[in-house]
Amino acid sequence: MARDKTVYTCTACGGTNPKWLGKCPHCGAWNTLEEGVAETPQAQRHRYKPIAGSQPVATLSEIEAAEIERTPTGLAELDRALGGGIVEGGVVLIGGDPGIGKSTLLLQAAERLAQTMKVLYVTGEESGAQVALRARRLGLREAPLRVLAEIQLERILAAIESERPRFCVIDSIQTLFSDALTSAPGSVAQVRECAAHLTRAAKSSGTAIVLVGHVTKEGALAGPRVLEHMVDTVLYFEGDTHSSFRLVRAIKNRFGAVNEIGVFAMTERGLKGVSNPSAIFLSTHDAPVPGSCVLVTLEGTRPLLVEVQALVDSGGVAPRRLSVGLDRDRLAMLLAVLHRHAGVSCMDQDVFVNAVGGVRIQEPAADLAVLLAIHSSLRGKALPRGFLAFGEVGLAGEVRPAPRGQERLREAAKLGFAVALVPKANAPRAADARAFEGLTIHAVERVEQAIEIVRAL
Ligand code: TYD
Ligand code: MG
Repeated sequence: MARDKTVYTCTACGGTNPKWLGKCPHCGAWNTLEEGVAETPQAQRHRYKPIAGSQPVATLSEIEAAEIERTPTGLAELDRALGGGIVEGGVVLIGGDPGIGKSTLLLQAAERLAQTMKVLYVTGEESGAQVALRARRLGLREAPLRVLAEIQLERILAAIESERPRFCVIDSIQTLFSDALTSAPGSVAQVRECAAHLTRAAKSSGTAIVLVGHVTKEGALAGPRVLEHMVDTVLYFEGDTHSSFRLVRAIKNRFGAVNEIGVFAMTERGLKGVSNPSAIFLSTHDAPVPGSCVLVTLEGTRPLLVEVQALVDSGGVAPRRLSVGLDRDRLAMLLAVLHRHAGVSCMDQDVFVNAVGGVRIQEPAADLAVLLAIHSSLRGKALPRGFLAFGEVGLAGEVRPAPRGQERLREAAKLGFAVALVPKANAPRAADARAFEGLTIHAVERVEQAIEIVRAL
């Protein structure tokens, strides 16, 4: 191949450059340029043809908006994350760490769907025999599920053409390669090329396709971010492989709400949906321990009670700030607020925080609980039994309300919590107090007030 036919693509932003550089000229990331095959202008034009097919200009109100029909997979928790089920011609990308259970979940879903429709399971990572063995272990042997062990894109497309499945799983997109490119499977060019072809196949044939993708050490789906733009739905599989609970979170969904989460437990017979997950992310202590605070998080439609743990220990000249499941920049900010506005200093201390059970908390409503857990660890005094807190903390030391605070409080009251520390705007009015019986609610406007209240508890 002539040298001018190669192009270097950034794995972080997908930008291209004709020669290799240490630093991407588009996004400034280091060591991210990878070699790929340059496309001819014709091929590029082909790529940018609208996937849905060209249509004349029309008035929005005159376009018939047919309700999208969803087919439930039969796994209620997966359907919840998908926004009701699979959609004809829809492409779903599901990412997660190796061994988290992506293949297991999709095999279960494929088997359920195969009872009512034609389903093709393309496995590039395992042999057909391995898939069969797993299916037997999961007790799934009844449905006429079609399996193809193949990694060459053209043959997979031909199989989709001839089998005409209504649901197709590609496990995984990183193992596929197209003959049109010379780079290795898993390279940026290959992943992008294969995903584009499969997306087009889904739209033209009406097959719903699920692409399994790996997650890099940095926590991003391997391959260019452009993959996330191509597909209709992006799901992330998260959770601690050492605990049995797994979360499936919708990051993007053209057919439903985002941030909806499905909860599963990994058992010896596969993944089982957890329909009432509110209390599974609490660790069980016989007596309250310092450095632990429970919060109610509400991502999607269900409130979840999650325990945040903090450990503050004397550090060296450059103390460490580490967080698992919570944003590290946010942690640094909270420590600064705690110092400036409440006079509590962790300057020469190492600070570690962790969200129990491998759950990842993204919403800022976790701030107050993180702050109180750190404060509790620092003074070596546990928060009282049945205590919980939520609320966003601002740089000025104010405690801002969390969305749908009453719902969070109701869940906590239902689970028998006794004391809640919440933002003033989230405190229920006197007339509603009956709904939170048994729960003493302290409302605060500022961080220093919150610290004062817990000191007095
Ligand atoms: P897998 O679906 O192969 O993960 P991925 O495709 O995301 O890499 O999950 C494999 C893990 O799940 C493995 O560590 C074993 C465990 N497992 C169970 O605990 N129970 C089961 O029934 C199955 C099939 C797997
Ligand atoms: Mg797998």
